[in-house]
Amino acid sequence: MISKKMSDSLNTHMNLELFSAHLYLVMSSCANEMGLKGAANWFFVQYREEMIHFMKFYTYLTDQGAVIAMPASKALPNKYKSLLDMMQKTLAHENLITACINELTEQAVQEKDHATQIFLQWFITEQIEEENNDRDLIAKLKLVGDTGHGILMIDSEMAQRVFVAPVGSPLAV
Ligand SMILES: [Fe+2]
Ligand SMILES: [Fe+2]
Repeated sequence: MISKKMSDSLNTHMNLELFSAHLYLVMSSCANEMGLKGAANWFFVQYREEMIHFMKFYTYLTDQGAVIAMPASKALPNKYKSLLDMMQKTLAHENLITACINELTEQAVQEKDHATQIFLQWFITEQIEEENNDRDLIAKLKLVGDTGHGILMIDSEMAQRVFVAPVGSPLAV
C-alpha cells in the first residue's frame, strides 16, 4: 500500500517516461531524414528503453492497486539543427528526469515508503548510464565539429547499439 500522494507523484513521472519515449521516437525519424541511419537506430533503441521505463512505473502502480491517469499528450518538437543539437536536448531532458527521480526518492524517504524506495533504486542507477552515454556522444560530436566524415564515423558507432530488455522487464516492446 502506498499513499495517494506517492501514487500521484509516480503517475506523473510515469507519463514523463512515456513523453521521453515519444521524444526519442521523433528524434529517430529526424536523424533518418538527415541521412543518419545509425543515429536513427540509436534513438529508436532509446525509445524502446523508455517504453520499458514507462511500463516499470505502470506495473509498480497497478501492483500497488492504483488506477493510472493519462493526460492528453502534447505535440513534440520535430525540428533539430544537427545531431549535436539532438544529443544536447537529450542530455538536458535526461538531467530533468534524474532530478525528478531524486525528488520521488526524497518523497519516498520522507513517507518511510520502503517499497517505493527500492523500486526507484533501479532508476537511480539507470540515470547515471543515460547521462553518461549522452555526454560521451556530445564530447565526440564536438571533437569532429561539422566534418561530414567525422559525423558519419559517429553515426556508424551509433548503428551498433542494440536494444537489450532489462532482466525481469514487464514488457519487451
Ligand atoms: Fe527513462
Ligand atoms: Fe538506458
